[in-house]
Amino acid sequence: MSTLRTPASTPRTTDPDWWRNAVVYQVYPRSFADTDGDGLGDLAGVTSRMPYLSTLGVDAIWLSPFFPSPLADGGYDVADYRAVDPRLGTLDDIDAMIRSAHEHDIRVIVDVVPNHTSDEHAWFREALAAAPGSPARARYVFRDGSGPSGEQPPSDWVSNFGGSAWTRVPDGQWYLHLFAPEQPDLDWSNPEVRADFEETLRFWSDRGVDGFRVDVAHGLAKDLSTPYRPSNEHDLPLDGSDPLYDRDEVHAIFESWRTVLDEYDPPRAAVAEAWAPAPRRVLYARPTELGQAFNFDLLEAPFDASAFRTIITRNTAMAEQSGASSTWVLSNHDVVRHATRYGLPEGTDTDAWLMTDGTSPVLDRARGLRRARAATLLVLALPGSSYVYQGEELGLQEAAAIPHDALQDPKWIRTGHTVKGRDGCRVPIPWTTSGPSFGFGSVPPHLPQPADFGAWSVEAEDGDPSSTLSFYREAIAARRRLQQGEDLTWIEGGADVVAFARHDGWRSVTNLGTEAVPMPPGEVVVASGPVTAGELPGETTVWLV
Ligand code: NOJ
Repeated sequence: MSTLRTPASTPRTTDPDWWRNAVVYQVYPRSFADTDGDGLGDLAGVTSRMPYLSTLGVDAIWLSPFFPSPLADGGYDVADYRAVDPRLGTLDDIDAMIRSAHEHDIRVIVDVVPNHTSDEHAWFREALAAAPGSPARARYVFRDGSGPSGEQPPSDWVSNFGGSAWTRVPDGQWYLHLFAPEQPDLDWSNPEVRADFEETLRFWSDRGVDGFRVDVAHGLAKDLSTPYRPSNEHDLPLDGSDPLYDRDEVHAIFESWRTVLDEYDPPRAAVAEAWAPAPRRVLYARPTELGQAFNFDLLEAPFDASAFRTIITRNTAMAEQSGASSTWVLSNHDVVRHATRYGLPEGTDTDAWLMTDGTSPVLDRARGLRRARAATLLVLALPGSSYVYQGEELGLQEAAAIPHDALQDPKWIRTGHTVKGRDGCRVPIPWTTSGPSFGFGSVPPHLPQPADFGAWSVEAEDGDPSSTLSFYREAIAARRRLQQGEDLTWIEGGADVVAFARHDGWRSVTNLGTEAVPMPPGEVVVASGPVTAGELPGETTVWLV
């Protein structure tokens, strides 16, 4: 009989199913809190803010990568999977952070980035120093080029950040990178690669990490013999026939990860970032694999009652079928913040809008925030896990006017300065109303903050009952009291209304239209905005009991 492995630290409570209905707060560590005055957030900063996260009421935090990285892609270019970036701290600091989270009964999820390493990872350096055909190159995807003397890339595959997905090395071979050239793709058919990542899962689980977010989970299996694929679009086929993404072979990898995750009591949780079509996305979430997969449907949807209903119906049904619970995401470190998306005219191309420094079309901030609060309260009433991205609890808007010379996203360079990318949602969050970085640290931060950020700071909003921070605290606390089971029953409410009941009379009613509708009967326990007796205003959600 095998014995279970014991993590160094455990949360106060022991529910093995904690992840099924959790509120998970995403920390982008380099932009959360800077305690050592280098302009970059650090792990001690996260620890120092644990009381804040506890008061917010979240069940777990997910940390985007904090590993050593040359930062070619915000840390998603990992140079060493089992260490901490010295600019962010040490292994002792992460141990202390995990202990502090657990003392506050907050679980810790860390990012694992298996599709690619950094080009500064020891393996890639070894591969460059080794000869074509060597075992060191076989950990990555090296190929000879096409054309008479191999001067053309092996195929016309396109990188997600623009440009070819192949880069040539001095001896003439080419290596594959679905993202930046500094992010060479690993070859997951190589058993050494598989074994090493399983060690990484154990390394962090032994230290007390409760779960993993799996980056580009749908990209690990590739069929390099298939014909060319001249685009990087995400509309993948339903039969797994794409050469690069969402292939059937990928699932064997996660089945073996599940056996590693199950070496712990309780089993470690995992959530796949898999941009696969909805019916195939749930395959990653099977109990024999990762358990959950991100559902980005609402994040991509307009603020529209019929779209919301369709997405909720589809995802709750799929969750029931697969045995997983659903996940809900409105914002993360890769997309324009939802308070901003919802304040732009329907159908705005946000990349083009960012290129105008957020001036055209005109952003209606008040409307964006009103709708964002309504959507958030709706999502918090749904069965499944809700992911909250740092700063959304303050109602932050996208920082749209970052000076060009301060931009860090590889998209900016790889697209020849035509797409700014994702820095606008990664600007360090404001803790105080004034100071060199509004309380983020003692010096100007690594990405400049908008001048008005102080008005959106924790200090400004704390104690103001009408603030977005107070609203999030109230909503998450009410969810904790009310949430039970994973049932949902639709209520008829009119074309612009999304209404459903959970249990024991708990109902969530959202008016996504602009005109007020009659307030349904019951006591309002939380509202996303001001409500008047008898009426539910437009772009507002209420919870009733
Ligand atoms: C998804 C991550 O969320 C994103 O930030 C990153 O650029 C890519 N994967 C590549 O790792």
